[in-house]
Amino acid sequence: MTDNTLRDVENKVIIISGSQRGVGLATAKRLASGGAKVVIADLPGLDMTDSAAQVAQYGEVAHSSVDIADENSVKALMEFTLDTYGRIDALDNNAARQGIMEDADVLNMDVDLWDSVFAVNARGTMLMCKHAIAAMLKSGGGSIINISSGTAIAGHLYQTAYACSKGAINTLTKYVATQYGEQGIRCNTISLGLIKTERLAETMPLPMQEMFINHKLIPRLGKPEDIAEMVAFLASDRSVWITGQTYCVDGGIQAKGSQVSDERRMMRDMGVGIGS
Ligand SMILES: NC(=O)c1ccc[n+]([C@@H]2O[C@H](COP(=O)([O-])OP(=O)(O)OC[C@H]3O[C@@H](n4cnc5c(N)ncnc54)[C@H](O)[C@@H]3O)[C@@H](O)[C@H]2O)c1
Repeated sequence: MTDNTLRDVENKVIIISGSQRGVGLATAKRLASGGAKVVIADLPGLDMTDSAAQVAQYGEVAHSSVDIADENSVKALMEFTLDTYGRIDALDNNAARQGIMEDADVLNMDVDLWDSVFAVNARGTMLMCKHAIAAMLKSGGGSIINISSGTAIAGHLYQTAYACSKGAINTLTKYVATQYGEQGIRCNTISLGLIKTERLAETMPLPMQEMFINHKLIPRLGKPEDIAEMVAFLASDRSVWITGQTYCVDGGIQAKGSQVSDERRMMRDMGVGIGS
């Protein structure tokens, strides 16, 4: 983690779903070091004690469990947070079902798989918003950050259910921002590019990772800390006038024309350099 002394979320109570590892855990460390009271939660049955101990090295943390697809479980997480810290200032909707090899193209789509991915990513994210909003309205507002993916912005060859469920999240952000802005609730999306996490190492072969790097304007994979910084900004009062937006934190992959990597190679072959 970057050595960050910025106390930008001092005393804010922030829930991070899906935070046993990966991007969620890195975000929890960043927010704790920024002064927040962090609630980390992941699927029932997962041991959160080691993750909580890691976050505790940076600041205040409590841990619980949640299955975001289950409304009673979501309600219980909100009640745990209110009992522990008295209010909810921000919610980082980070949990997702992803990296499923069977998540295929449309012709080969298994309907049960489609439904189960939507139950977590679309319904689950909506349920977390629903019950966090109820608490935030009582304390004068808050900030919701929905974690989405570049796969929802343009078509890809596989991961169809995952990508479409993230598209639903992109739209949900605008609805939450529109419906509760007057009451002080902001909602924004962070659209991630490929991030180097434990899960990625388990699921994506190196040549495929390299192919993605080749298409980034900043030629490396993302780090979980790159995302954590954006979550901190959107949770903090530094972003008080920002709502309903989608931020691509992706090394610039969505900003360039799709032909640019080939174009760069061809220009080099012709001896025409850019920036040299
Ligand atoms: N890593 C990437 O390259 C990448 C790219 C684009 C978007 N994202 C998004 O970033 C977020 C974090 O991903 P990550 O790479 O750290 O992956 P990860 O799989 O390590 O983390 C996701 C977490 O969500 C939890 N989770 C799954 N279903 C849940 C449920 N029903 N209730 C509660 N928790 C549940 C998992 O247990 C896991 O800990 C996800 O929303 C993911 O879609 C990641």
